[in-house]
Amino acid sequence: MTTHYSPEARHEIVDALNGFLADTTIIYYKTHAFHWNVEGPNFYGVHLMFETFYKDLWESMDDIAERIRAFSEKVFPNLEMLLQHASIAELETAPSIDVMVQNLRDDYIALSKKAMAIGTIAEKHGDLVTSDMMIQRSAFLEKAAWMLQATVKSSS
Ligand SMILES: [Fe+2]
Repeated sequence: MTTHYSPEARHEIVDALNGFLADTTIIYYKTHAFHWNVEGPNFYGVHLMFETFYKDLWESMDDIAERIRAFSEKVFPNLEMLLQHASIAELETAPSIDVMVQNLRDDYIALSKKAMAIGTIAEKHGDLVTSDMMIQRSAFLEKAAWMLQATVKSSS
């Protein structure tokens, strides 16, 4: 329970976490779909790299959602509502392997910046649990973005 936080703090943190959950869900699905749809000479390595990423993103969704529940707020009950709160763009078609890698790199960096911003909001309210969670998310996303960037270099 987190009833020791002020109503303003609770509202601000939960609002930010809901947006983060929405964006993580979009990026999770995009990464998993890329894992399925990827083609090309680097297929196997990229296919497996995407798998390690989507598994981490999937597990993180549970932690983020349960942090929202610790504030006694409900998580999006359907994907339609979730999509309305997402800021990460979806793709209309399955792109080439190079575009997949570059698109995920940019999305992961964008989400990492968001995690840092949410961590700062949480810290301002003394919520070091959420802040710590966001630092961990950012650490994963920045490392994954580096791996994607290294892949772009080797394939061009
Ligand atoms: Fe698979």
